[in-house]
Amino acid sequence: MHDFDGTTAIVTGGASGIGRGLATSLLEDGAAHVVLADIEQGALDLTVAELRSLGTGEVSGVRCDVTDPKSVEDAARVAWERTGGIRVVCLNAGVFAGGYSWETTLDDWDWVMGVNLRGMVHGIRSFIPRLIDAGEPSHVIGTASIAGVVASAASAVYCTSKFAAVGLMESLHHDLGLAGAAHIGTSVICPGMVTTNIDHGDRNRPADLGDATDTESSHLAGDSISQILGDGGLDPLVGARHALSQVKAGRFYVTTHEGDLWDRLVGNQNDDRLAGHPPRFQMYE
Ligand SMILES: NC(=O)c1ccc[n+]([C@@H]2O[C@H](COP(=O)([O-])OP(=O)(O)OC[C@H]3O[C@@H](n4cnc5c(N)ncnc54)[C@H](O)[C@@H]3O)[C@@H](O)[C@H]2O)c1
Repeated sequence: MHDFDGTTAIVTGGASGIGRGLATSLLEDGAAHVVLADIEQGALDLTVAELRSLGTGEVSGVRCDVTDPKSVEDAARVAWERTGGIRVVCLNAGVFAGGYSWETTLDDWDWVMGVNLRGMVHGIRSFIPRLIDAGEPSHVIGTASIAGVVASAASAVYCTSKFAAVGLMESLHHDLGLAGAAHIGTSVICPGMVTTNIDHGDRNRPADLGDATDTESSHLAGDSISQILGDGGLDPLVGARHALSQVKAGRFYVTTHEGDLWDRLVGNQNDDRLAGHPPRFQMYE
């Protein structure tokens, strides 16, 4: 998709951070209607009001828990009815938990995999059949992470969920090709460090998943992320604008940052894989 002028879009996790940035950037590009889908009602209402005040396209909100397939299906139906048909689907909602793989609680595994992977699966199951039936040029954009391509320490559940998200988006691209649905494009955003509310993700953690990892290792990743975000995180709108400009340019793998971050990290990783070496430690600055 080379142009968002007049388009209709839904953004999961659209009430904050990168999702809010994607919605704003789509509106700046002339989107006619952007639907924000988010679990956090207060932030959703606030963000809808703020984006409406831009005075460009229509903005609306729908409360949605991406871990629940029925909630995603309901959001898809509502968004479709409101807009007359969604053309851009941003599967962006995500959460983070830190810790060594063997110390991360099973509740943390369920929560992070539920939002970051199952949330994307539910979005694909609800939206792709509608997009196929509509037969109009459309685009599905998944938000993974640079941590979905290059792993780091003390973030096993997050990296696992994001590697799976990248694999899912690559599989979706192949499936659409095999199914003859060439009118549906795909891209996967792999953000570097962006200043958002992700380090306060527990605010949306379900009460029944109470057993959060609280070991020394669970703070290692968070502490280093906070340090980097404190003085080096990118503004989410800047990152979203950069990402969507790459989508418009036809890229599948999309970054948030200018410069050689992607080339450097992926280049090093490929070198290690081809040489059979263990992966070197790379942070995402
Ligand atoms: N911030 C970064 O540095 C960074 C880096 C790489 C990837 N990402 C990814 O970017 C995406 C957006 O995260 P962010 O950094 O903007 O964080 P954020 O916390 O600011 O925004 C995430 C949004 O997702 C929503 N959300 C959480 N659980 C949900 C659920 N079950 N159903 C629906 N919505 C839910 C939250 O309410 C929030 O509005 C995530 O997928 C994240 O993994 C972020």
